[in-house]
Amino acid sequence: MIIKKNIGIDLGTHTTQVYLEKRGIIINEPSIVAFNNRTRKIVAHGFEAKKMLSRTPAHITALRPIVNGVIADFDMAREMIQRFLRSEKFPRALITRMIISVPTNLTEVERKSVEDLLKESGASSVHLIEQPLAAAFGSHLDINSPTAYLIVDIGAGTTDMAIISMNGIVVSKRLKIAGDYLDQEIIKAVRDELKLHIGEPTAEDIKINAGSAVPFGEKLETIIRGRDMISGLPREITIKDTQVRFWLNKPLKMLVDALKDLIEIAPPELVGDIHKNGIYMCGGGSLLRGINQLFEKEVGVAVWTVEEPLTSIARGTGLIAENLREYGHVLNNFPRFKLDKSVL
Ligand SMILES: Nc1ncnc2c1ncn2[C@@H]1O[C@H](COP(=O)(O)OP(=O)(O)OP(=O)(O)O)[C@@H](O)[C@H]1O
Ligand SMILES: [Mg+2]
Repeated sequence: MIIKKNIGIDLGTHTTQVYLEKRGIIINEPSIVAFNNRTRKIVAHGFEAKKMLSRTPAHITALRPIVNGVIADFDMAREMIQRFLRSEKFPRALITRMIISVPTNLTEVERKSVEDLLKESGASSVHLIEQPLAAAFGSHLDINSPTAYLIVDIGAGTTDMAIISMNGIVVSKRLKIAGDYLDQEIIKAVRDELKLHIGEPTAEDIKINAGSAVPFGEKLETIIRGRDMISGLPREITIKDTQVRFWLNKPLKMLVDALKDLIEIAPPELVGDIHKNGIYMCGGGSLLRGINQLFEKEVGVAVWTVEEPLTSIARGTGLIAENLREYGHVLNNFPRFKLDKSVL
């Protein structure tokens, strides 16, 4: 017998997560596909494809079909999703309704592209929810009440900031300053200051192992390897937290400024609520050491990181997938008033 199931999906720049109704998150893999350049045939996806990133032979390309939170390569994104959904982790269930989280301030064309992608992947119906709203659901915030919450989702490709009240987004802002951007700043600084070529995975290691937004009691350092720009040979160096903090200072300031801008244009009553409730952060970027303290100091409001910030959005979509009757009204509601349509 085939059982009908709903699923929740968070199709992120870095990671794709799929939540199967009554089961929880069953797919949690890198959003990467590797394909043969000549035939365009996919040779690996998810974890397997990640291993190939920057180590592929000439005829294989590994790519991320999602860039800055939006579908950049439709065919590859569809292939990737279809492969995830065909995984043996799914019981013999017919996936019907799909609830997918999307960044704030998408254009209609971008939203339509997400819908088409899932329809072509077997969905009987597709429902969109903006990521900060899904994160609030996944974190069990009482967003149905007449009080406001400010959610900041720092992913790999985008940072979404939204003020939510009565199950809807009142004002929001999306920036391309997120985890990947921080990695690129590290690559540039290591190249310019230390004359060493490093790739994205090494830059991410530096950020995670020695990165922080404010000074810490303990000193952090990490040893990395790269290619010396003068000799062309491999070289090993130690990177200290003070260096990484300096390199990340500018992009973090841009996030702080965006947060201040958002609060500035929020209706005054809601600003009072935010002062009382604090700011909630989610997404992988919220795990950067000391980012709470930096935001608290700069904005003057308490900042919390939600529980399990890497999965809060997927869990939010899953919760809705499980309770469509109760929560269905929050789906496909796109705000009439937006702070900034042009993404920074
Ligand atoms: N401990 C950590 N410190 C700093 N950054 C981290 C840490 N752990 C993960 N990250 C970063 O978080 C990002 C991934 O976060 P997440 O999984 O929320 O992104 P995503 O949802 O795939 O992307 P997006 O929402 O932008 O489409 C990566 O840039 C990763 O380097
Ligand atoms: Mg995300």
